[in-house]
Amino acid sequence: MKFEKSRKYDENFLKENMMGPNCIKLLEDLTQNITISKGMRVLDLGCGKGLTSIFLAKEFGATVYATDLWISATENFSRTVALGLEDQIIPIHADANDLPYADEYFDAMVSIDAYHYFGGGEACMDERIAPLIKPGGVIAVCVPGVFADLDAVPKELSPYISDEDFITFRSAKWWRALLEKSEKFSLDTIWEPDEFDEVWNDWLACDNEYAIRDRDFIRDNDGQYLNFVSFIGKRV
Ligand SMILES: C[S@@+](CC[C@H](N)C(=O)[O-])C[C@H]1O[C@@H](n2cnc3c(N)ncnc32)[C@H](O)[C@@H]1O
Repeated sequence: MKFEKSRKYDENFLKENMMGPNCIKLLEDLTQNITISKGMRVLDLGCGKGLTSIFLAKEFGATVYATDLWISATENFSRTVALGLEDQIIPIHADANDLPYADEYFDAMVSIDAYHYFGGGEACMDERIAPLIKPGGVIAVCVPGVFADLDAVPKELSPYISDEDFITFRSAKWWRALLEKSEKFSLDTIWEPDEFDEVWNDWLACDNEYAIRDRDFIRDNDGQYLNFVSFIGKRV
Protein backbone atom coordinates (compact mmCIF):
# COMPACT_ATOMS: atom_id res chain seq x y z
CA MET A 1 0.00 0.00 0.00
CA LYS A 2 1.29 3.44 -0.84
CA PHE A 3 2.06 5.63 2.18
CA GLU A 4 1.82 2.70 4.56
CA LYS A 5 3.73 4.57 7.25
CA SER A 6 1.96 7.92 6.86
CA ARG A 7 -1.48 6.33 7.05
CA LYS A 8 -0.80 5.16 10.62
CA TYR A 9 -0.84 8.75 11.93
CA ASP A 10 -3.91 10.23 13.56
CA GLU A 11 -5.79 12.27 10.99
CA ASN A 12 -6.89 14.97 13.43
CA PHE A 13 -3.35 15.40 14.76
CA LEU A 14 -2.09 15.81 11.20
CA LYS A 15 -4.84 18.27 10.30
CA GLU A 16 -4.05 20.39 13.36
CA ASN A 17 -0.37 20.60 12.47
CA MET A 18 -0.10 20.58 8.69
CA MET A 19 1.11 23.84 7.15
CA GLY A 20 0.65 22.84 3.52
CA PRO A 21 0.44 19.72 1.34
CA ASN A 22 0.78 16.56 3.48
CA CYS A 23 4.45 16.70 4.43
CA ILE A 24 4.76 13.23 5.91
CA LYS A 25 3.55 11.62 2.68
CA LEU A 26 6.05 13.71 0.72
CA LEU A 27 8.73 12.65 3.20
CA GLU A 28 7.70 9.00 3.03
CA ASP A 29 8.11 9.17 -0.74
CA LEU A 30 11.53 10.79 -0.35
CA THR A 31 12.72 8.25 2.23
CA GLN A 32 11.99 5.34 -0.12
CA ASN A 33 15.22 6.36 -1.79
CA ILE A 34 17.53 7.11 1.15
CA THR A 35 18.69 5.34 4.29
CA ILE A 36 17.94 6.91 7.65
CA SER A 37 18.83 4.66 10.55
CA LYS A 38 18.60 4.60 14.31
CA GLY A 39 20.79 7.16 16.02
CA MET A 40 21.58 9.15 12.89
CA ARG A 41 21.70 12.89 13.54
CA VAL A 42 19.32 14.49 11.04
CA LEU A 43 18.74 18.17 10.30
CA ASP A 44 15.04 18.73 9.46
CA LEU A 45 15.24 22.18 7.92
CA GLY A 46 12.05 24.24 7.79
CA CYS A 47 10.23 21.58 9.82
CA GLY A 48 7.23 23.82 10.54
CA LYS A 49 5.21 22.24 13.35
CA GLY A 50 7.52 19.24 13.38
CA LEU A 51 5.41 16.54 11.71
CA THR A 52 8.35 15.45 9.57
CA SER A 53 10.64 15.42 12.60
CA ILE A 54 8.15 13.20 14.43
CA PHE A 55 8.05 10.89 11.39
CA LEU A 56 11.87 10.65 11.20
CA ALA A 57 12.14 9.94 14.94
CA LYS A 58 9.33 7.39 15.09
CA GLU A 59 9.83 5.54 11.82
CA PHE A 60 13.63 5.43 11.72
CA GLY A 61 14.81 6.11 15.28
CA ALA A 62 16.76 9.18 14.14
CA THR A 63 17.83 12.02 16.40
CA VAL A 64 16.26 15.02 14.72
CA TYR A 65 17.15 18.70 14.97
CA ALA A 66 13.72 20.19 14.20
CA THR A 67 14.73 23.59 12.85
CA ASP A 68 12.29 26.30 11.83
CA LEU A 69 11.91 30.06 11.51
CA TRP A 70 8.17 30.77 11.79
CA ILE A 71 7.36 28.23 14.52
CA SER A 72 8.97 28.65 17.93
CA ALA A 73 11.14 26.01 19.56
CA THR A 74 8.87 26.14 22.62
CA GLU A 75 5.79 25.28 20.55
CA ASN A 76 7.55 22.38 18.85
CA PHE A 77 9.00 21.18 22.16
CA SER A 78 5.54 20.90 23.69
CA ARG A 79 4.39 18.69 20.81
CA THR A 80 7.36 16.35 21.17
CA VAL A 81 6.88 16.09 24.94
CA ALA A 82 3.22 15.16 24.42
CA LEU A 83 4.41 12.31 22.19
CA GLY A 84 7.25 11.23 24.50
CA LEU A 85 9.80 12.07 21.77
CA GLU A 86 11.66 14.84 23.59
CA ASP A 87 14.87 12.80 23.82
CA GLN A 88 14.91 12.26 20.07
CA ILE A 89 13.73 15.63 18.72
CA ILE A 90 15.65 18.80 19.52
CA PRO A 91 13.59 21.89 18.63
CA ILE A 92 15.61 24.83 17.33
CA HIS A 93 14.38 28.25 16.27
CA ALA A 94 16.78 29.43 13.55
CA ASP A 95 17.05 30.96 10.10
CA ALA A 96 18.39 28.68 7.36
CA ASN A 97 20.54 31.61 6.27
CA ASP A 98 22.37 31.63 9.59
CA LEU A 99 22.28 28.18 11.16
CA PRO A 100 23.81 27.67 14.62
CA TYR A 101 25.41 24.26 13.96
CA ALA A 102 28.95 22.94 13.78
CA ASP A 103 30.38 21.99 10.40
CA GLU A 104 29.95 18.26 9.60
CA TYR A 105 27.61 17.82 12.60
CA PHE A 106 24.83 15.98 10.75
CA ASP A 107 24.61 12.56 9.09
CA ALA A 108 21.80 13.81 6.86
CA MET A 109 19.56 16.75 6.05
CA VAL A 110 15.94 16.63 4.92
CA SER A 111 13.66 19.51 4.04
CA ILE A 112 10.02 19.29 3.00
CA ASP A 113 8.11 22.23 1.51
CA ALA A 114 10.59 24.80 2.80
CA TYR A 115 13.84 24.82 0.78
CA HIS A 116 12.35 27.05 -1.93
CA TYR A 117 12.03 29.88 0.62
CA PHE A 118 15.78 30.12 1.15
CA GLY A 119 17.55 27.72 -1.22
CA GLY A 120 17.11 29.36 -4.62
CA GLY A 121 20.45 31.16 -4.65
CA GLU A 122 23.83 29.69 -5.55
CA ALA A 123 25.35 30.36 -2.12
CA CYS A 124 22.79 28.45 -0.05
CA MET A 125 23.93 24.88 -0.61
CA ASP A 126 27.68 25.44 -0.64
CA GLU A 127 27.96 28.11 2.03
CA ARG A 128 25.13 27.36 4.46
CA ILE A 129 23.79 23.81 4.17
CA ALA A 130 26.35 21.34 2.81
CA PRO A 131 29.15 22.34 5.23
CA LEU A 132 26.95 21.18 8.14
CA ILE A 133 26.65 17.63 6.73
CA LYS A 134 29.36 14.99 7.05
CA PRO A 135 31.10 14.09 3.78
CA GLY A 136 29.03 11.37 2.11
CA GLY A 137 25.93 12.36 4.13
CA VAL A 138 22.55 12.51 2.41
CA ILE A 139 20.75 15.73 1.53
CA ALA A 140 17.12 15.13 0.54
CA VAL A 141 14.62 17.84 -0.37
CA CYS A 142 11.05 18.14 -1.65
CA VAL A 143 9.67 21.51 -2.75
CA PRO A 144 6.54 22.69 -4.50
CA GLY A 145 7.48 23.36 -8.11
CA VAL A 146 6.20 23.93 -11.62
CA PHE A 147 6.21 21.84 -14.78
CA ALA A 148 7.80 24.72 -16.72
CA ASP A 149 9.45 27.88 -15.39
CA LEU A 150 7.50 31.14 -15.66
CA ASP A 151 8.65 34.70 -14.95
CA ALA A 152 5.38 35.71 -13.34
CA VAL A 153 2.28 34.15 -11.88
CA PRO A 154 -0.20 32.98 -14.57
CA LYS A 155 -3.42 35.01 -14.60
CA GLU A 156 -5.58 32.14 -13.29
CA LEU A 157 -3.48 32.03 -10.12
CA SER A 158 -2.82 35.75 -9.65
CA PRO A 159 -5.69 36.23 -7.15
CA TYR A 160 -3.96 33.84 -4.77
CA ILE A 161 -0.22 34.39 -4.96
CA SER A 162 2.19 37.22 -5.75
CA ASP A 163 4.76 37.07 -8.57
CA GLU A 164 7.46 37.15 -5.93
CA ASP A 165 6.13 34.05 -4.16
CA PHE A 166 5.20 32.21 -7.35
CA ILE A 167 8.68 32.42 -8.82
CA THR A 168 10.08 30.49 -5.87
CA PHE A 169 8.29 27.54 -7.53
CA ARG A 170 10.79 26.20 -10.06
CA SER A 171 10.98 23.25 -12.43
CA ALA A 172 13.08 20.13 -11.93
CA LYS A 173 15.24 21.38 -14.81
CA TRP A 174 15.85 24.68 -13.02
CA TRP A 175 16.78 22.98 -9.72
CA ARG A 176 19.08 20.56 -11.54
CA ALA A 177 20.93 23.44 -13.22
CA LEU A 178 21.33 25.23 -9.88
CA LEU A 179 22.45 22.14 -7.95
CA GLU A 180 24.89 21.04 -10.62
CA LYS A 181 26.85 24.23 -9.97
CA SER A 182 27.47 23.15 -6.39
CA GLU A 183 30.95 22.07 -5.37
CA LYS A 184 29.90 20.59 -2.02
CA PHE A 185 26.80 18.68 -3.10
CA SER A 186 26.61 15.93 -5.67
CA LEU A 187 23.14 15.39 -7.12
CA ASP A 188 22.10 11.72 -7.42
CA THR A 189 18.52 12.03 -8.57
CA ILE A 190 15.79 14.60 -9.12
CA TRP A 191 12.19 13.81 -9.95
CA GLU A 192 8.61 15.06 -9.88
CA PRO A 193 6.64 13.00 -7.32
CA ASP A 194 3.24 11.97 -8.64
CA GLU A 195 1.33 12.31 -5.36
CA PHE A 196 0.12 15.82 -6.19
CA ASP A 197 -3.64 15.33 -5.77
CA GLU A 198 -3.45 13.18 -2.65
CA VAL A 199 -1.06 15.36 -0.67
CA TRP A 200 -2.90 18.56 -1.65
CA ASN A 201 -6.31 17.07 -0.86
CA ASP A 202 -5.12 16.15 2.64
CA TRP A 203 -4.21 19.81 3.20
CA LEU A 204 -7.34 21.23 1.56
CA ALA A 205 -9.47 19.11 3.93
CA CYS A 206 -8.07 21.07 6.89
CA ASP A 207 -10.36 23.80 8.19
CA ASN A 208 -7.84 26.55 8.94
CA GLU A 209 -8.03 29.80 6.94
CA TYR A 210 -4.90 29.04 4.87
CA ALA A 211 -6.16 25.64 3.74
CA ILE A 212 -9.57 27.09 2.92
CA ARG A 213 -7.93 29.84 0.82
CA ASP A 214 -5.81 27.26 -1.00
CA ARG A 215 -8.90 25.34 -2.16
CA ASP A 216 -9.56 27.98 -4.83
CA PHE A 217 -5.85 28.19 -5.69
CA ILE A 218 -5.63 24.47 -6.47
CA ARG A 219 -9.01 24.42 -8.23
CA ASP A 220 -7.89 27.22 -10.55
CA ASN A 221 -4.50 25.62 -11.10
CA ASP A 222 -6.56 22.81 -12.64
CA GLY A 223 -3.54 20.53 -13.03
CA GLN A 224 -1.78 23.05 -15.28
CA TYR A 225 1.22 24.62 -13.58
CA LEU A 226 2.07 23.20 -10.17
CA ASN A 227 3.85 20.01 -9.22
CA PHE A 228 6.48 18.91 -6.70
CA VAL A 229 10.20 18.53 -7.20
CA SER A 230 12.25 16.15 -5.04
CA PHE A 231 16.00 15.73 -5.12
CA ILE A 232 18.54 13.59 -3.34
CA GLY A 233 22.29 13.85 -3.30
CA LYS A 234 25.36 13.66 -1.12
CA ARG A 235 27.67 16.04 0.62
CA VAL A 236 30.93 15.89 -1.30
C1 LIG B 1 4.91 25.82 4.12
S1 LIG B 1 5.75 25.68 5.65
C2 LIG B 1 6.09 23.95 5.68
C3 LIG B 1 6.45 23.47 7.03
C4 LIG B 1 6.73 21.97 7.13
N1 LIG B 1 7.93 21.59 6.44
C5 LIG B 1 5.55 21.23 6.59
O1 LIG B 1 5.61 20.79 5.42
O2 LIG B 1 4.55 21.15 7.32
C6 LIG B 1 7.32 26.38 5.28
C7 LIG B 1 8.27 26.40 6.46
O3 LIG B 1 9.52 26.90 6.01
C8 LIG B 1 10.10 27.59 7.08
N2 LIG B 1 11.07 28.58 6.59
C9 LIG B 1 10.90 29.53 5.66
N3 LIG B 1 12.01 30.28 5.54
C10 LIG B 1 12.89 29.77 6.43
C11 LIG B 1 14.22 30.12 6.80
N4 LIG B 1 14.85 31.15 6.23
N5 LIG B 1 14.82 29.40 7.76
C12 LIG B 1 14.19 28.36 8.36
N6 LIG B 1 12.93 27.98 8.05
C13 LIG B 1 12.30 28.69 7.10
C14 LIG B 1 8.95 28.31 7.75
O4 LIG B 1 9.29 28.62 9.07
C15 LIG B 1 7.82 27.30 7.59
O5 LIG B 1 7.59 26.57 8.76
